[in-house]
Amino acid sequence: MNDFVTTLKTKTEEISEIVLKRLPKSDSFSAVIFEAMEYSVANGGKRLRPLMVKEVYEALGGKKEKEEKLLEPFMAAIEMIHSSSLVHDDLPEMDNDLLRRGKPTTHAVYGQAMGVLTGDGLLNLAYETAASALEAVADNHDDLKNAARALKILGTKAGIYGMIGGQVVDVVNTGKPLSDEEIDFIYIGKTAALIESSLMMGAVLAGADTDTVDKFERIGRCTGIAFQIRDDILDETSTDEELGKPVHSDEENNKTTYVTIHGLDESQKKVDELTKEAENLLTGLGLEDSFLAGLLKFLVTRTK
Ligand code: IPE
Ligand code: IPE
Ligand code: MG
Ligand code: MG
Ligand code: MG
Repeated sequence: MNDFVTTLKTKTEEISEIVLKRLPKSDSFSAVIFEAMEYSVANGGKRLRPLMVKEVYEALGGKKEKEEKLLEPFMAAIEMIHSSSLVHDDLPEMDNDLLRRGKPTTHAVYGQAMGVLTGDGLLNLAYETAASALEAVADNHDDLKNAARALKILGTKAGIYGMIGGQVVDVVNTGKPLSDEEIDFIYIGKTAALIESSLMMGAVLAGADTDTVDKFERIGRCTGIAFQIRDDILDETSTDEELGKPVHSDEENNKTTYVTIHGLDESQKKVDELTKEAENLLTGLGLEDSFLAGLLKFLVTRTK
């Protein structure tokens, strides 16, 4: 393994701990939902979004001693929201998939009703967790203000103006041809929005100015669209074992994707171009040698 991959693995494991320790356990009558939530979040996830929150925070000089109270709740929250979106995305009424992160999907194990409730449970826990940061820093006005800004970004980008909005246009257009504008809308929403919010929250929590936060939104948009196109490529070219989720899901669901419109080669070219754009923006911020810059390069050719 090269140095980057080794460091990435260590960071991923640390982040998993940060997220998993914020998932409560219960032995009450409702214990099954706690178990299903843990099942949905544990193992196999790349943890890219919380990693992005942390990398931006640290690159912009965010204070180490504030991480536990201020930063980590938002890292956990974005991974909970992302995981909730995956649980719902796999439901029979959506993509109807049976494998996720190398294991049977949540609804395959716990049933469809519990699949719906587990996604809802994770989504609510995400905001409860993020709100705990506001409570923890309430005696410092600047930190409190930044945490409130981050919470607003999280809600906006995860909801009807972002991820949910993209999923809506994805499902209502399944089986239909799509214009470039429609496909952009879907990818910006369903995938880029959570990546944008991760980078923006890292910046906001480090106390960055609006101009810098806006730049991270643009970096997130390029990175997110590229990430989804690469996901579409892997849906055609990978294997279930490597990817940890079923390949050819898009074809089976009759989805129009960037790959079905433009083909594999053209799609990979677009991934390269969008990533270059994101890298140039990072360079403009003096972050060309950051771990984040390395991560963007790594994602261009990721295999899972
Ligand atoms: C999968 O996201 C959903 C998409 C937006 C394409 P990831 O590829 O980040 O999934 P995990 O978290 O690693 O399982
Ligand atoms: C999913 O897009 C985006 C979200 C879950 C919000 P996909 O449907 O392509 O994601 P995968 O391939 O199932 O991970
Ligand atoms: Mg989907
Ligand atoms: Mg899917
Ligand atoms: Mg996919």
